[in-house]
Amino acid sequence: MIFVTGGAGFIGSNFILNWIKKHNEPVLNIDKLTYAGNLENLKSVENNPNYLFAKTDLLDLAGLEKLVNEHKPRAILNFAAESHVDRSIHGPGDFIQTNIVGTFNLLQVTKDYWSQLPDVEKKSFRFLHVSTDEVYGSLELNDAPFSETTPYAPNSPYSASKASSDHLVRAYHHTYGLPTVTTNCSNNYGPYQFPEKLIPLVIHNALKGKDLPIYGDGSNIRDWLYVVDHCDAIELALEKGRLGETYNVGGWNEKKNIEVVDTICTTLDKLRPRADGKSYLTQKVFVKDRPGHDKRYAIDATKIEKELGWKPAENFETGLAKTIKWYLDNETWVGNIVSGNYREWLDKNYGGRR
Ligand code: NAD
Ligand code: DAU
Repeated sequence: MIFVTGGAGFIGSNFILNWIKKHNEPVLNIDKLTYAGNLENLKSVENNPNYLFAKTDLLDLAGLEKLVNEHKPRAILNFAAESHVDRSIHGPGDFIQTNIVGTFNLLQVTKDYWSQLPDVEKKSFRFLHVSTDEVYGSLELNDAPFSETTPYAPNSPYSASKASSDHLVRAYHHTYGLPTVTTNCSNNYGPYQFPEKLIPLVIHNALKGKDLPIYGDGSNIRDWLYVVDHCDAIELALEKGRLGETYNVGGWNEKKNIEVVDTICTTLDKLRPRADGKSYLTQKVFVKDRPGHDKRYAIDATKIEKELGWKPAENFETGLAKTIKWYLDNETWVGNIVSGNYREWLDKNYGGRR
């Protein structure tokens, strides 16, 4: 079987759903269930014999040891993280704990387990670490996209904690020979994304008649990738990735934030017109910028395309259309997570920002 940490989050749950559809191999989801972890994402597989769940924190070393010794995985995929840049600015402590100490714990437990495996299993075992393009820092408009050899230059507590975790993974391969592969991906979007991130936040706020907050002047650029394309890339890296290597994953879809917001508004105008006949564009509001806001991310995905034969199936237009449709069809999913805690977060992050 394989282990997936953080499988109740956005990308982890999409990965598990995708995995169970395609493979007849059990997956154990190890998740602490923070505000971002939601077992409702996995409702469709909860009774599937190939799906198992353990509510365990990456900080619980003994708990992790027990799980590897009991289930003897052939691979461990580490998705678990604190993942929201704005939250890392308000409170970096959890990011240091989960992203750095948690990854360290997982590596320690994995190394101890892996080192006593029989030779054949030892050789085929994999530790796959899911990381981000934010570790490379920020690009100017004319800079070449990030490649795997771009020096790390993280700018937020989130990206610094992810960079640390990447370095630990690298060190465990180099020092102990642990068979690791790391992926560094750009901005994901799609079903089950918590509505604190730009795309689901804008869809949700638009439908609720609320402001659509755009940081600064909306000219910051992100590369966007449909989440299932990212999951397919991770699977390929797991099966075919070269040991100790990192693979950049991106959609060749650079967009200014303002373009993303405008496209969501005009799509919603067609699919769910406002009762008053006005456009959702009228809800846009420019707010105080994110401190240290990275200007531009762009990914050169040549290595994974050439070496592993990966190509995204969706472009931004098709992926965004699917995503918007999913949120329109799943308003109760959003309704269920927009709890007291979520409202507290909105007050903290957006209160007084306008
Ligand atoms: P998410 O915030 O939606 O989910 C994170 C999951 O990890 C949650 O289920 C949470 O409960 C769990 N978790 C958090 N702390 C934990 C701990 N201490 N122990 C066990 N579980 C814990 O995140 P996501 O957007 O799905 O991102 C998943 C991974 O992909 C992260 O490592 C992130 O850095 C990386 N990534 C995300 C994006 C993106 O655009 N979302 C892009 C590139 C890389
Ligand atoms: O690049 C990969 C990263 O993408 C992942 O590692 C992170 O886990 C993920 O959260 C994401 O980080 P970003 O900071 O780019 O994503 P976010 O959705 O928070 O913001 C996208 C852009 O939109 C960014 O330039 C900030 C801006 N923004 C965001 C929010 C929440 C706004 O203008 N308004 C908002 O309300």
